[in-house]
Amino acid sequence: MKEKIGIATDHGGFALKEFLRKSLEETYEMVDYGTKSEESVDYPTIIGDACRKVLSNEVPRLIALCGTGIGASIAANRMKGIRAALCHDEFTAEMSRRHNNANVLVLGGRVLGTDLALRIVKKWIETDFEGGRHQKRLGLIEEQS
Ligand code: RB5
Repeated sequence: MKEKIGIATDHGGFALKEFLRKSLEETYEMVDYGTKSEESVDYPTIIGDACRKVLSNEVPRLIALCGTGIGASIAANRMKGIRAALCHDEFTAEMSRRHNNANVLVLGGRVLGTDLALRIVKKWIETDFEGGRHQKRLGLIEEQS
């Protein structure tokens, strides 16, 4: 059975979202939470709704996009239980899994080229959380929210 991965964006990340969904759907069950066109939409609503699908376990993890990735990242990290990592390179994507157990990867649709974005996504998907002292630190974050 293919692993489920959610993907959601506003208009600023629409083109990259379409590219990533099509590139990944042979290997993963891609659950597309929109948006479905380049018409302007509000990222807090689209990304917030998609993050709720992670929190309700409809998908174990989510790729979230907007133009810069900043708005999507801020919106996602307001939600208790979401650990969203805005990544522009493979190293931070890897570390966001190993140390932060990020359940949302955020990308800037107007920042990244398609090849780099796909490499970042693959690294993020393929990397496991290390647990141990990092689990304790995630617990400390939870206590503060
Ligand atoms: C939309 O124009 C743009 O503001 C949005 O995609 C994002 O970059 C916000 O942080």
